[in-house]
Amino acid sequence: MVDTAPVPTPAALPDRGVVPGVWSRVTNLTVDRGEGSWLITTDGERYLDYSSGIGVINTGHAHPRVVAAVQAQAAKLLHGQQNIVYHEPGLRLYDRLRTLLPGGPWQAFLSNSGAEAVEAAVKLARAATGRPVVLVFRGGYHGRTAQTMALTTARNVSRADFEPLPGSIYATAYPYCYRAPGGGHAPDAACTCDWEAELDLTLHTLTYPEHVAAIIVEPVLGEGGYIVPPPGFLPRLREITRQHGILLIADEVQTGFGRTGELFAVRHWNVEPDILVFAKGVASGLPLSGIIARADLMAKWRPGAHGGTFGGNVVACAAANATLDVIEDEGLVANAQGRGAQLLDGLRRLAAGRPVIGDVRGLGCMVAMEFVKPGQGDGRVPDPEMTRRVIAEALDRRLIILSAGSYAQVTRIIPPLVTTVAEVDTAVRILEESLAAAGA
Ligand SMILES: Cc1ncc(COP(=O)(O)O)c(C=O)c1O
Repeated sequence: MVDTAPVPTPAALPDRGVVPGVWSRVTNLTVDRGEGSWLITTDGERYLDYSSGIGVINTGHAHPRVVAAVQAQAAKLLHGQQNIVYHEPGLRLYDRLRTLLPGGPWQAFLSNSGAEAVEAAVKLARAATGRPVVLVFRGGYHGRTAQTMALTTARNVSRADFEPLPGSIYATAYPYCYRAPGGGHAPDAACTCDWEAELDLTLHTLTYPEHVAAIIVEPVLGEGGYIVPPPGFLPRLREITRQHGILLIADEVQTGFGRTGELFAVRHWNVEPDILVFAKGVASGLPLSGIIARADLMAKWRPGAHGGTFGGNVVACAAANATLDVIEDEGLVANAQGRGAQLLDGLRRLAAGRPVIGDVRGLGCMVAMEFVKPGQGDGRVPDPEMTRRVIAEALDRRLIILSAGSYAQVTRIIPPLVTTVAEVDTAVRILEESLAAAGA
């Protein structure tokens, strides 16, 4: 017998005004699904997603192995609260995370968002050292909760309306080679940035070294403008922190899980942090974050001193285990190196003869162009308007990229790590057209 029951028509979508304006918007697209590097809208249009949902979908959108793991787990158990029970995906993930860094022994802690994991790192550092102060780098971004706003100095909008903020946090200079006071230079061994003198000054003017629990650093500055430091920076910072008994926290929320062409960016410089913060790329889009910390530090946390209802959610853990399998089995770390180098080459070619592009830089699949106003000031006056135009022109051509930098003067390009040679070529071609259309 033929089933003649009418198919219910879905209700019309509510007006977009239901979403509060505090979610500042990059596009007005309504998406239906994602496949690898592509987002497909409800109208069936395909967009090359070189935002990766702000550096999250390293394995691409809806990777079949991750989706299968999520579906299988969701059918069995959605919530196995960490204070109450153990679950298999969690035990497997905790075990894997403690082996991802050389050295150790390490132990992981799981939570939900990047900011929450940064909070965990700072709480652990204070509890383990008994010291109050935390140092951050100017231009750094660590989140939007009260504590992490206070740690964030990438841009005023993330913090300025919310003073007073938690104290005992001081900012010192990050080596931003393109904007070095003495003149822009490559982030190489001859770097002349004075970050070390600035740190020394901070430790002589604002606090004592023995009051500092930790210095938190992004190995490549993310929201602050995709700034790659010179090779000596992290190793020297590690020496200085050890000298003073200060813990080194590497915030790898944006750089982690293969993004820069190493599983974690600290590996580029063979630096061993005391605590590493991760989120974004760990679970291919499910909310999961955490820290990997020296086991002796982790032992100093009293039971109950930190935690949360949803931390280490069982479905998110299943997604993370599948994500780690995909990163490993599909050689995504190597692909991040290869495709990142291809993209960087393409952008350098586009920058030649275009003085509005002041700098092209990147590490792995974390790549950026910085726009300036040629002929004004010292030639490095930031140009947020040009940045906005290039991003808009790229979107018109169905390429999604983002801005970054304290003046929103940087376009950052964050391909999924599964992206192909052909897709990178497409992106470079679209960017060439977009630069021309924007008058760059
Ligand atoms: C380096 C870094 N740390 C922390 C965060 C905060 O992560 P979340 O937005 O998941 O709270 C971000 C987010 O962009 C980040 O890039």
